[in-house]
Amino acid sequence: MFVNSLRNRDLLSIADLSVEELRSLIDLSFKLKELYYNGLKYLNILNGKIVALIFEKHSTRTRISLQVAIEQIGGRSLYLSSQELQLARGEPIKDTARVLDRYVDGVAARVYSHKSLLELAEYAKIPVINALSDFEHPLQALADVMTILEFKKDMKKVKVAFVGDGRDNVAHSLMLAVTMLGGSIYIATPVGYEPDARLYSIAKDYAEKSGGYIAIVRNPVEAVKDADVIYTDVWVSMGQEAERDKRIRDLKEYQVNKELVAYAKKDYIFMHCLPAHRGEEVTEDVIESPNSVVWQQAENRLHTAKAVIASILR
Ligand code: CP
Ligand code: NVA
Repeated sequence: MFVNSLRNRDLLSIADLSVEELRSLIDLSFKLKELYYNGLKYLNILNGKIVALIFEKHSTRTRISLQVAIEQIGGRSLYLSSQELQLARGEPIKDTARVLDRYVDGVAARVYSHKSLLELAEYAKIPVINALSDFEHPLQALADVMTILEFKKDMKKVKVAFVGDGRDNVAHSLMLAVTMLGGSIYIATPVGYEPDARLYSIAKDYAEKSGGYIAIVRNPVEAVKDADVIYTDVWVSMGQEAERDKRIRDLKEYQVNKELVAYAKKDYIFMHCLPAHRGEEVTEDVIESPNSVVWQQAENRLHTAKAVIASILR
């Protein structure tokens, strides 16, 4: 039932997973969701193991889904705001890592810089899980592909349109996961907002192997035309507040609104990792429309978090 090959491994990027591991994690998430709805909400998989959650940034879904997932499968979590750790007073990450791994069984961290995660993982012997960095958000992408599969069944027939900031952490992880599973993804983004070149080339390789497709386009209509999934994320991610005015100016043609979604398939689903900024990347009518699956997508964060934690820390 568990993805045994993930035991004691780090999960910093979707690219850390093989296709088989990604598929198995999603299968396990579906099983855990089924158990949850059949009254098996509480399972003893972790045997009291303790996971530290270090957060440098705000969080609602990631923090709560991880804490609840850990507790529901028999573990315990310690929420540690980085502001209250000696980290905030300049203690190096590499020192924090070597102390933490003597106390707890695993750590999930939300950081400003992906480099901090790499350092944490290099120095901590315990598994390190990316709870969002400026570069990737793998836990989100797992819930995203699970949600797409719930609604659309066959990833190989799915066209995803990601509209907005193509360098976004959520977009990065999503493009890796979708192409790994054989789906197509069109990223509609302005010049200067293209995905990271290295991650894009990994996704292109995945697409070639899986029969999927990936393209960057400038025109949102081209991405959304006949799409099964329309996905967007905020224009100003945490840590980018100083660039707010420029980003809003640059991305304003990339709003997901009634006019744009009219080009998608009639039964398209609208997705967003949340939190959403209504009136910026998406309009109220689209996020509140019957095509919007954002609440189910948010719920799936819990089931996928359980699958990850159970497989890595069991
Ligand atoms: N989608 C997501 O990661 O939300 P939080 O920032 O609330 O954790
Ligand atoms: N791109 C957003 C995602 C939040 C879940 C951010 O980094 O702020």
